Amino acid sequence: MTRKTLILGQTLSFTADPFQVALEDAVRHETRGGILIEDGMIVAVGPADDLRAAHKGVEITDMGGALLTAGFVDAHAHYPQTAIIASWGKRLIDWLNTYTFPEETRFADPAYAAEIAARYFDLTLSNGTTTVCSFCTIHPESVEAFFSEAQKRGLRAVAGKTCMDRNAPEALRDTARSAYDDSKALLQRWHRSGRLGYAITPRFSPTSTPAQLEAMGALWAEFPDCPMQTHLSEQTDEIVWVSELFPDARDYLDTYETHGLIGPGALFGHAIHLTDREKARLKDADAGLIHCPTSNSFIGSGLFDMHGLQQDGYRIGLATDTGGGSSFSMLRTMAAAYEIGQLNGSALHPAQLYWLATAGSARALRLDTWIGNLAPGLEADIIALDLASTPAIAQRAARAEDLWEALFPTIMMGDDRAIAGVWISGDPLEI
Ligand code: GUN
Ligand code: ZN
Repeated sequence: MTRKTLILGQTLSFTADPFQVALEDAVRHETRGGILIEDGMIVAVGPADDLRAAHKGVEITDMGGALLTAGFVDAHAHYPQTAIIASWGKRLIDWLNTYTFPEETRFADPAYAAEIAARYFDLTLSNGTTTVCSFCTIHPESVEAFFSEAQKRGLRAVAGKTCMDRNAPEALRDTARSAYDDSKALLQRWHRSGRLGYAITPRFSPTSTPAQLEAMGALWAEFPDCPMQTHLSEQTDEIVWVSELFPDARDYLDTYETHGLIGPGALFGHAIHLTDREKARLKDADAGLIHCPTSNSFIGSGLFDMHGLQQDGYRIGLATDTGGGSSFSMLRTMAAAYEIGQLNGSALHPAQLYWLATAGSARALRLDTWIGNLAPGLEADIIALDLASTPAIAQRAARAEDLWEALFPTIMMGDDRAIAGVWISGDPLEI
């Protein structure tokens, strides 16, 4: 028997990309709207009265004035860094060596990996994030823990074993061969298992030998429908280090490119300090660029050129980069993207910020035929936002004259208290 439910509230959905078309053509907002769900899928979105009239007797959840949207999609995170988020005072390489690598070493223990995976999903779901694309550690156990937990919760999720065979502590080094073999076995076990996807994951060029990058490229060529995620041009001293490690490379991107690690499913985290050649090649490949704004300010990496790259039509997602990023919240992440835009001379509209955190990230991950929007045919991963979740937000929202003025205080000042409801494949979560 099919199961039908109707969730009522304000609804916000996108009919197009608000970076590319005028706002009125990109956004659909119903002040009294509804989402009809059947067997975990969205079957209709529209005015509440019309849906009620057309579907009499259906089970109704009325969220009042809360804003119903797609769940957030975090396009780049490191779930194993959950316990070391907000560690003080280092820049990238120092931060990796001081905090990250010692913590990642602990994931050889499956029980610890399982504990952190559960904690991570508790935190992301309570912040309204319904899909993440995460790095794991070099340990296959860390991948098992991530996918087992995501599967238990029915989540759409993407992750991969992080591969490193140099410039990391011995306990965190694999080899070109074992990285290939382990990644392949994990991929064959988890990729397209229900809602899960496997991402081939060389950490970044400094921690992979050319032989390992070559092995990752060969694996990707065998399984081209998998995404491939890594880091690119995050900090200037990192770029200098890459040029020393790869003296023949034309630039940072070339270290991936010469090993078959560029193409439509590529996801490059950060991508801040790009040369013109790199930009042209990334555009040509239709690769995904993932903006990690809280991380970029927290670790002092630099200002991502959202405006310029959007104008040139890149495929861009938004991400927390937990725990280099300083928050699990995609609201806080949108706020940081706004602030970095301002420092770069362009104010991102709330619709653009919200699009990045949902449909844009889903598109970057090439999951937009499944998630990231409220539209018939998509999976019913939905959140309800309370637009007056704290006294400070409520008093500003009370003055709002339109949806954007009502939503922007929550984007700028909101946190997990703003998440009034989460549904995974149409089923409500206890949060
Ligand atoms: N570059 C390589 N590894 C990492 C990581 O774990 N976090 C961030 N922010 N950058 C990286
Ligand atoms: Zn990262």
